[in-house]
Amino acid sequence: MRIREIETTPYEDQRPGTSGLRKRVATFAQPRYLENFIQSVLDVLPERDGATLVLGGDGRYHNDHAIQVVLKMAAANGVGRVLVGRGGLLSTPATSCLIRRHSADGGIVLSASHNPGGPHGDFGVKVNGPNGGPAPERLTEAIYARSRAITSYRIAEAQDVALDRTGEARLGKMAIEVVDPVAEYAALMERLFDFDAIAGLLRSTSFRMRFDAMHAVTGPYALEILERRLGAPPGTVVNGTPLPDFGGEAPDPNRVHARALVAHLYGPQAPDFGAACDGDGDRNMILGRCFFVSPSDSVALLAANAHLVPGYRAGLAGVARSMPTSRALDRVAERLGIRCYETPTGWKHFGNLLDAGLITLCGEESFGTGSSHLREKDGLWAVLFWLNLLAARCEPVAQIVRAHWRTFGRHYYSRHDYEGVEPQAARRLTEDLRARLGDLRGARFGEDVVREADDFSYTDPVDHTTASGQGIRLFLADGARVVYRLSGTGTEGATLRVYLERFEPEPSRQDADAQEALADLARLADEIAGIRARLGREAPSVVT
Ligand code: G6P
Ligand code: ZN
Repeated sequence: MRIREIETTPYEDQRPGTSGLRKRVATFAQPRYLENFIQSVLDVLPERDGATLVLGGDGRYHNDHAIQVVLKMAAANGVGRVLVGRGGLLSTPATSCLIRRHSADGGIVLSASHNPGGPHGDFGVKVNGPNGGPAPERLTEAIYARSRAITSYRIAEAQDVALDRTGEARLGKMAIEVVDPVAEYAALMERLFDFDAIAGLLRSTSFRMRFDAMHAVTGPYALEILERRLGAPPGTVVNGTPLPDFGGEAPDPNRVHARALVAHLYGPQAPDFGAACDGDGDRNMILGRCFFVSPSDSVALLAANAHLVPGYRAGLAGVARSMPTSRALDRVAERLGIRCYETPTGWKHFGNLLDAGLITLCGEESFGTGSSHLREKDGLWAVLFWLNLLAARCEPVAQIVRAHWRTFGRHYYSRHDYEGVEPQAARRLTEDLRARLGDLRGARFGEDVVREADDFSYTDPVDHTTASGQGIRLFLADGARVVYRLSGTGTEGATLRVYLERFEPEPSRQDADAQEALADLARLADEIAGIRARLGREAPSVVT
């Protein structure tokens, strides 16, 4: 095998965001763009010689090409062994699972998660560390620094590696193992959940569910686990074949992008339970018949019911949520007598807490839920957790959630996104808010009084690193909260996210529509920040 060293010059825009390097396909398709980034990743791997890596992707456009480039570059850079998913496919949680089970030195997931795919869509590269979780900031910053100084990359001159069948192959000295993308992940799920009870539920004639894989990577996982192993009727999984453009839709499991599933769950033929996952399989959306479960409620409810699930019967060490996620989880933690940590947005911030055994369950408002079983959020895991609860409690989804609200109070919650806005205007909006924090404390707006206002910063209790500037928080005197934050995952313009939360302890007032219950708060959020005026938008582009 001949190794070529090819001269290159840096691209200046290869700083990974909240979740890896994410750009338009056209950006990634530029000469040497992917190669520069991969060489930068390989250059900062602490022990590259003889290292074991896990590699896969969500099957989006450019996946096939990129996976061959990564394999050839790994071989040329002295990597010892690569486990790669058959067909180049691996979900993000399955990658995390394989890294941990094989004590690999890290992993690479080729995905732009829930962003659209296809030639005009997005592509991405996510890098994971030896704990199976997203690379921490110090590693992504090192990759970025390297990408700005790079002068050459190394790549093997070789035929493409056949990935269509499991088995061993070689690229020079490097061993390649093409693995079944589903097997080890499915085995882990069987250890955590009561598969007999779930199978009983899925096979009974009185229960029906639909799982929407959104033409993305969870199709093969859901078909194997839900239909083959658990015996759900054929057709339970829809859109189960991964497509390079995800059928033209963003594979994002929320009420906007998964509208067909939502319409089905609210329609005349509605089944009892509905769920969907995103492009790379780490996000989840949970629905009951004519009922949407907010992700913030979902993680709180899983924590409150964890004792019903075999893998969590021993109790929870602690829990965590990202700052903008509603405080429903905090109330459960209080009741359980455990700690609830509040972290910045981004799954990587849960990694240290999980590694140190401080928490067992964690979740985010952005449709991410997970636990100590991996170091990534895990969409199908959340679906199986819910199925286990439904099997154990024999009650409909809506009834379980309403009972939860009666016990703990309801946190009305919504996120309003202003996507693709002018980056400078968005930055100025948050900077001005930051500059006004002192004035906002104690300020009165009609009936509302701002009790506290700050810019969230977090010191990791394990490695003591600090992340500041993580979102502007306004706490109102009546307990409501508004958070403003700029997204770290977009590829076009900027996205302002406004997170609205209002607590309602009174059961007779817990059944309102969330948007109605939060309408006044949304108006106040706009009044304080001047969103419409400054961004030139009349309304949010996405409401979740
Ligand atoms: C990814 C990350 C999540 C994060 C989400 C939203 O999915 O893995 O941890 O919550 O993006 O991030 P953003 O910066 O766009 O709000
Ligand atoms: Zn994802």
